[in-house]
Amino acid sequence: MNDAGPVYIFDTTLRDGEQSPGVALTVVEKLAIAQQLAILGVDVVEAGFPAASAGDFEAVETIAREVEGPAIAALARCQAQDIMKAAKALESAKKPRIHVFIATSDVHMRAKLQMTPEQVLEAVTESVSLARQYTDDVEFSAEDATRSDPDFLVKVANAAISAGARTINLPDTVGYAMPQEYGALIRYVRERCPESVVFSVHCHDDLGMAVANSLAGVEAGARQVEVAVNGIGERAGNAALEEVVMALTARKDYYGREHHVRLPFIYQTSQLVSQYTGMVVQPNKAIVGQNAFRHESGIHQDGMLKDPRTYEIINPELIGQGSRLVLGKHSGRHALRDRLDRMGLSYTADQLHRLQLRVKALAESKIAVDDEQLKALWSNEVHGR
Ligand code: KIV
Ligand code: ZN
Repeated sequence: MNDAGPVYIFDTTLRDGEQSPGVALTVVEKLAIAQQLAILGVDVVEAGFPAASAGDFEAVETIAREVEGPAIAALARCQAQDIMKAAKALESAKKPRIHVFIATSDVHMRAKLQMTPEQVLEAVTESVSLARQYTDDVEFSAEDATRSDPDFLVKVANAAISAGARTINLPDTVGYAMPQEYGALIRYVRERCPESVVFSVHCHDDLGMAVANSLAGVEAGARQVEVAVNGIGERAGNAALEEVVMALTARKDYYGREHHVRLPFIYQTSQLVSQYTGMVVQPNKAIVGQNAFRHESGIHQDGMLKDPRTYEIINPELIGQGSRLVLGKHSGRHALRDRLDRMGLSYTADQLHRLQLRVKALAESKIAVDDEQLKALWSNEVHGR
C-alpha cells in the first residue's frame, strides 16, 4: 500500500468504552485516563456525551480544561440542545471537536427516529451547520452505516461535508459487516466525496470483526480509526486500540502507514483502564493479555532462547510488557536453566534433571511455577531444606 499519511487514532474509551455494561467512571478517573491517553499520544480523546448526564458534562468540561495534546471531542445527537451542551462543555479546550451523529439505516430511521430520509438529510445539514458555529472541527457519524443504503450514505456524507464537517465516520454500529464488505463501503462513499475529507472507521465486535474491519477500512482509504483501550465498549466492545496500533506497527510493510501512538505506554494504559473500569483483561488477549508474550512449550522456549524472533512478532518491551518463559508442564530444560541462571542459583546436571521433574510435577496442578516456588524447589533439591 502507498503511504497516505498518518492514521489518526480517535480514542473513545471514555465515551463508547464507558457504555460497557457495568462500567461507571468518576470524573477523577476519567480525567486520569484522559491524561494517560494524552501521554500515549492518541490524536483525539472522545471525552463523553455531555447531553447524556450532568456527570458526563462535568467530565468533558474538566478534560477539555485540563488535558493538552489531543483534540477533545464531545458527542451530540443531531439536536440543537445536544450540540449547544457539547459546545459549552468544550469551551476551554484548545482543540475542540463536536461529533454529531444520526442513524441512516431504514430500520433506525423508521423504528427509532420515526423520520423520513429527507428529514434525516435536513437534520444533518442543520446540525453540522450549528456545530460549525462553535468550532471548525466537526465530525459527522452516520450511525448504523453498514446497514444503510450506500447511495443514501453518499448523500448524507455530502450534506454533512457541504455544511462544514471535516471528518465523516461510517460506523459498523452493530458489528454486522465483514471486512471486505466494510472496506468496499468505505471506498464507495469516499470515492464519491471530496478528497480533502478524512474518512473514519468505527467498528463493534459483535462477530469478532472489529479490528479486522477497522483495518479493512484503512486499506480502503480511511484516515481515522476509532478505538477503545482493551476493546471495551457497548455489548461485545469496540475495536481495541492496542490491536489496531500494533497491527499498523508490526505490519508497516503491509499498510505503509504511520501513527502517533507512543508504544511504550500501551501496556501501562491498558492496566490503568482495566483497574478503573473493573474490566479484567482476558489472559489470552492480543498485545496486553498476561499470556500475550509468554511461552510455555519446551520447543518454543528453546527457540526463544536462541532467537526471540522465532516465536515473537513483536518485542514486548516495545509496548512496556516483558516477555516471559513460563515454567509450566510443557516447559523444557533450556527455560529452567535460563531462569535459574537469571536468579543466580547454581546446580549440577543431576540437580537440574531432578528439578525439572519437580517443576513438571508442580505444574501438573495447572500452576505456572513462579520465582518464589522455584527457589523453594531449588533449595530443597540442592540444600535438602
Ligand atoms: O457505534 C456507533 O454508531 C457510535 C456512534 C455514536 C459513533 O458509537
Ligand atoms: Zn460505537
